[in-house]
Amino acid sequence: MRLRLAVLASGRGTNLQALIDASKTGEIPAEIAVVISDKKEAIALKRAKDNGIPAVYIDRNNFGCKELFESTLLDEINKYDCDLVCLAGFMRILSPYFLANSEQKIINIHPSLLPAFPGLHAQKQALEYGVKFSGCTVHFVDKGVDSGPIILQAVVPVYENDTEESLSERILREEHRLYPLAVSLIAQGRVKVEGRKVWIS
Ligand code: GAR
Repeated sequence: MRLRLAVLASGRGTNLQALIDASKTGEIPAEIAVVISDKKEAIALKRAKDNGIPAVYIDRNNFGCKELFESTLLDEINKYDCDLVCLAGFMRILSPYFLANSEQKIINIHPSLLPAFPGLHAQKQALEYGVKFSGCTVHFVDKGVDSGPIILQAVVPVYENDTEESLSERILREEHRLYPLAVSLIAQGRVKVEGRKVWIS
């Protein structure tokens, strides 16, 4: 069975592109059913259109409260009959209302080795802390910020002369490998969650 993905993205969408490419080559038994953004100018929306994928912009300012915005998000995801929601640089925290009402599991990619450096500017946080290794994490989304059960992680070295840009680039290359791999494992039914632990068969 090909899994139908809803990808939520706020920015340039290189992780979305990695998922599109992997679905086209058949590397992942999944297809992107819809791309949704909270930013009108997001390059992610253009990438979707260029690949014949429905691209939906939802303006948060049209909704008086977060719940109404999120219920519109949920409606769109359901309209496209999605099996899994993938956050790919979606820069909004989903509320407990969204999580309680989502019919799909939600996964996220984050540019650090969680639980280190959650939230914004993870690569800058890693550099400032002085860690020798960082990386990226694909995890299920729960009520916390970047705190859900960890599916996969990849490690990269941090060099003394690294800048935020150079470290981000090194991590991003791993993100583009890791996110399709995680989706593929889920699509194959090889991922089980027990409490905080994720088992991969
Ligand atoms: C990626 O590095 C992703 O890990 C990060 O935003 C970037 C999006 O890049 N996400 C977070 O920091 C979420 N906490 P992209 O738009 O090119 O995929």
